[in-house]
Amino acid sequence: MARKLSLLSSALLIIGLTQVETFVFGTGNGTGPVVPKVPCYFIFGDSLVDCGNNNDLQTAAKANYKPYGMDFPTGVNGRFTNGLTIADLIGQLLGFDHFITSHAAATDKEISTGVNYGSGSAGIREESGSHLGDRVCLDKQLSNHEQILTRISALQQNQTLTDEHLRKCLYIVNMGNNDYINNYLMPELYNSSHQYKMEQFSEVLAQQFTKQLKKLYRLGARKVAVFGLGMIGCAPALMDRFETDGHCVDWINDAVMLFNNRLKPLVDELNFVFPDAKFTFINITNILAPKGGEPLPNKPCCPVRPDGQCVPDGICCPSRSLSVYLDSFHPTEIANIVLATRAYKAQSSLDASPMDIGQLTRDITDT
Ligand SMILES: *[C@@H]1O[C@H](CO)[C@@H](O)[C@H](O)[C@H]1NC(C)=O
Ligand SMILES: *[C@@H]1O[C@H](CO)[C@@H](O)[C@H](O)[C@H]1NC(C)=O
Ligand SMILES: *[C@@H]1O[C@H](CO)[C@@H](O)[C@H](O)[C@H]1NC(C)=O
Ligand SMILES: *[C@@H]1O[C@H](CO)[C@@H](O)[C@H](O)[C@H]1NC(C)=O
Repeated sequence: MARKLSLLSSALLIIGLTQVETFVFGTGNGTGPVVPKVPCYFIFGDSLVDCGNNNDLQTAAKANYKPYGMDFPTGVNGRFTNGLTIADLIGQLLGFDHFITSHAAATDKEISTGVNYGSGSAGIREESGSHLGDRVCLDKQLSNHEQILTRISALQQNQTLTDEHLRKCLYIVNMGNNDYINNYLMPELYNSSHQYKMEQFSEVLAQQFTKQLKKLYRLGARKVAVFGLGMIGCAPALMDRFETDGHCVDWINDAVMLFNNRLKPLVDELNFVFPDAKFTFINITNILAPKGGEPLPNKPCCPVRPDGQCVPDGICCPSRSLSVYLDSFHPTEIANIVLATRAYKAQSSLDASPMDIGQLTRDITDT
């Protein structure tokens, strides 16, 4: 990985990362096993974190074919990127020596260290992404989590110990992209934009999200990182959809910002209501904002289908480290490295607030 990182560092500089952290891998320095900073790690979200849960669903939102996974250690796997996702990279930074299992393939042996429930095209709202086919919306991801907890309790046979275990886990939630991309921004297919003005929609969405995060708390989560949305209006697919000739769609970024701006107060409220828990907000918009220099072009690295996903077996750009987007929606691994690194160790209080994931998972914060 050290070799890989040095190759990537020029691109990292361009898209805003100035300090490349050395990644901590679970293999340690060869003198014994490394213990991860948290005993377990649960992942909720959409295609930014999906690690194969959509592979066997009836949906167009799948990434189980080349060129997806072309830079992943074991090749094609269902991740919507060329290599590792943000969730994978945060797992490595925490010191896990394996990738957290997908919910679809989770065995009893694996679930006590965590489960990844992420599902491409899924949203906070149940109907988001439905025109693409099946998906696991956030409510369903939470009920899947409830069932996994029942399995963990049965395996551990001591509820006190199970509850203690769950309190120490890291939980990340990355949701909302599809409530815009595959719902609100498709007025011909979804009625949300007929029902709600932009401001109202961001409020309705944030209210539903609040309920879902409270449920996660009731299910035992005490260290939760909530990811905001990126600049969706700059995704190649949306610049195409709204024919802006390669310019970001400003009104979409404004609409998404209305939702993002509600997340920090939401996190503050949860920290106030639940003093025994720690919630934090990760500001993806800030992390990916170009900082001086020439920003990388918002162009997909691989040839894409009309729906914005990669063409099967398409020939991709040779330097994936010089592209932010792999297809018309999804970041390349290099962009994920920037996101994960700064979510884990913030460069400023704008990246993560009130704390970064490194602080969130520090032992001293255990209660
Ligand atoms: C490996 O790590 C352990 C624990 O952090 C440390 O005690 C040891 O000195 C390290 N060994 C080498 C060769 O760096
Ligand atoms: C569960 O574990 C706790 C902590 O080790 C212990 O005090 C308690 O007696 C255990 N309960 C049962 C039912 O074994
Ligand atoms: C909007 O669509 C949803 C399902 O997509 C449906 O349940 C609801 O009744 C619709 N509402 C209106 C006002 O048409
Ligand atoms: C997130 O970052 C954007 C861009 O820098 C900034 O405008 C916004 O205020 C930030 N939000 C929070 C809650 O820090």
